[in-house]
Amino acid sequence: MRVVIQENYDKMCLWAAEYIRKRIAAHNEGPDKDRPFVLGLPTGSSPIGVYKELVRMNRSGELSFSNVVTFNMDEYLGLPREHEQSFWFFMHYHLFDHLIDMKPENVNILNGMTDNPEKECEDYEKKIASYGGIDLFLGGIGVDGHIAFNEPYTSLSSRTGVRNLTSGTRIVNSRFFDDDPEKVPAKALSVGVGTVTDSKEVMLLINGHNKAKALWAIVEGAVSSKWTCSALQLHNGAIIACDEPACGELTVDTYKYFLDIEKKERL
Ligand code: GLP
Repeated sequence: MRVVIQENYDKMCLWAAEYIRKRIAAHNEGPDKDRPFVLGLPTGSSPIGVYKELVRMNRSGELSFSNVVTFNMDEYLGLPREHEQSFWFFMHYHLFDHLIDMKPENVNILNGMTDNPEKECEDYEKKIASYGGIDLFLGGIGVDGHIAFNEPYTSLSSRTGVRNLTSGTRIVNSRFFDDDPEKVPAKALSVGVGTVTDSKEVMLLINGHNKAKALWAIVEGAVSSKWTCSALQLHNGAIIACDEPACGELTVDTYKYFLDIEKKERL
């Protein structure tokens, strides 16, 4: 696992966006260029700065999305697309509406209004497989270490399916629902931990002191479904992009080790 520590949130986002740009560019010049680059994407406050930079790169001609297919991690069950807190709305507001060459048919987001959630999830897995899997899954994590909406004790081999949100997650996310946890949907559709770890590469954005315990768990803790993000310890292409405040629970040795081996990456 790589852990790339940047001084602050803005630098973490710039580094992550540049990493994504380089991966897409390398794909488009490589032997697989005739198939699309498949990018997994998250919602939440963590990726907003990355999306802003990807939009800037796209609009300035530094990065094309014309050969990119995206799959989002999750969606609230029961929220229509046009609801301001749906992840469909979020993704269009922060990213897709601003890209000059993203093909709408290449955007995949689970349908929270489906009347057959099981089929919706099965079809999502099949569609990912039809592209040969995900090249790079970008993600964030919750304060309890959930990845996508895979709350503590979700199987580390889980696939896309319906998830029950914990009351803790509903409280944290109530900031987007008039500070009322009851207004946060109780269920969501989410890719599984196994869906994420099947990707060739996974990059998680972890910033802020409220994520320090989760960053500790993913880097220094045991692999455990209590912290579903810890499944990445078994992944051979996992990268954590984080900021200094999120490192507050790492042991000094661990912190210095990663700063040292990744010093070329420091912005
Ligand atoms: C939600 C999403 C996760 C996301 C998490 C963290 O629960 N389902 O995919 O990682 O929020 O959000 P934030 O980045 O706002 O802390």
